[in-house]
Amino acid sequence: MPPTAIAPEPVLASDLVGAAPPSPAGPIDAAELATLTPAPTIPLPPLAQTLRFSQRQIEFMFRARREHGEVFRMRGTIPGGPVITSHPDHVRSLFTANPELAPSLTGESPLRPILGPNSVLTAVGARHMRQRKLLLPPFHGEAIERYTEMISEAAEREIDTWPLNEPFALAPRMQAITLDVIMAGIFGIEGKPAPGSPEAGLRRTVKRLVAASTRPDAQLTELIHIGREEPIGLLRFGLAMLDRPTYAVIAARRRAADLEERRDILSLLLQATTEDGEALSDKEMRDELLTLVLAGHETTANSLSWAWERLVRSPDAHEALLAAVRDDVGAEQRIEATIVEAMRSRPVIPIIGRRVTVPWRLGEYGVPAGAPISMSILLVHHREDLYPDPFAFRPERWLDRKPGTYEWIPFGGGIRRCLGAALAMAEQRVVLTTMARRLDLEADRPEPERARHRNVTMIPERGGRVVVRARRD
Ligand code: HEM
Repeated sequence: MPPTAIAPEPVLASDLVGAAPPSPAGPIDAAELATLTPAPTIPLPPLAQTLRFSQRQIEFMFRARREHGEVFRMRGTIPGGPVITSHPDHVRSLFTANPELAPSLTGESPLRPILGPNSVLTAVGARHMRQRKLLLPPFHGEAIERYTEMISEAAEREIDTWPLNEPFALAPRMQAITLDVIMAGIFGIEGKPAPGSPEAGLRRTVKRLVAASTRPDAQLTELIHIGREEPIGLLRFGLAMLDRPTYAVIAARRRAADLEERRDILSLLLQATTEDGEALSDKEMRDELLTLVLAGHETTANSLSWAWERLVRSPDAHEALLAAVRDDVGAEQRIEATIVEAMRSRPVIPIIGRRVTVPWRLGEYGVPAGAPISMSILLVHHREDLYPDPFAFRPERWLDRKPGTYEWIPFGGGIRRCLGAALAMAEQRVVLTTMARRLDLEADRPEPERARHRNVTMIPERGGRVVVRARRD
């Protein structure tokens, strides 16, 4: 008699997401601080740590966690040497704290000389709240709804130009779509700006500068700018190129006869005033616009590239996505689950930070007032207790559950949570759906792409290279 076949136990989505054991965290007084030990410091010279962190953050972080546990201190370029945590309770303590107790570290980041000190991303305190309040309405979920059609048109147009049976990198193609979307949202232009217009000049310059920032010397430029207020050298030159069309766009729009009727972000900002009736200056406008253009398109483009980098190497997830979209069975749920899982396993911004102004507790460790604390999004997203089999790409984790606020943090959180999260999600939904419906994609090579670090982002080393085997209309 043949042996009876034993059917494998089905894996339930509920087995794929777990919970971390509780860990006390939050502001403490000096007396309690004195009872706690400092977090273990990675025993390498600061320069070695900086180089490893900026070259191979994944390997560096996983090794540090293996050797020192879920809280450790790194010494590098950030003054004070950040204590890095990967526990959701610690994350919650920082996201929900009064912002005066845990202001963002972005004011000290290498982005500051680029975006200036005045933007919603780089400002802290009252100034940050003011800028955030001005910008929230146009980035609200409902306001984003009306972009859906425009995103879909940008995606369809772009997909039509892709080569068949020839490997190419998705990242620049995705960037073309996301740049069109953010420029349209900010400047209120549909599709590509008119040739010769200041907007067209700005779009061209942004593309050129982003391409230049992938060159090896760009990382050096980035390192020498940490902690600086003003740009120097090549960056200064690049920014001057960017400033010219930006100021031209602002000046032209200030003069526009239909300014009051326009709903684009630039026009809204030009008409916005503070409670004291004060309007934004040209310099403030420039910082804000550059922030939105730069923060808003590369991140989303690389997040989409990572999603496909994972999908073309995960046959079950890929097939399930195509079937759901093409047969329209549970498509929305499957698309959402795929995006959430891609952002869990490859968070484009792998680490974010705050600087605590009072002593803080992180589990068994104490952190003194004035010290920086970083949250490793990468490590939180790869905790075995939260995400069993964390290195596997399993969109099923999310088919019947929503991600946790402090457990799934690709957009950060609290009052610094990504302003463009609703837009980024809308773009990913539309682009992923359109691509799944129209394209049969394959990986150009079987091995996964490694991560490369550029500015504050973590991107696929080869740009997410794929081959299109078939395209449907
Ligand atoms: C997949 C795409 C994106 C990812 C992964 C992402 C991620 C992040 C993260 C991690 C932060 C820091 C949050 C914190 O410190 O708690 C952030 C902040 C920010 N993001 Fe995004 N982002 C994306 C897309 C966008 C888009 C499309 C825009 C806008 C146009 C945008 C605009 C901003 C701004 C303005 C901030 C600063 C918010 C503040 O400090 O109040 N981002 N983003």
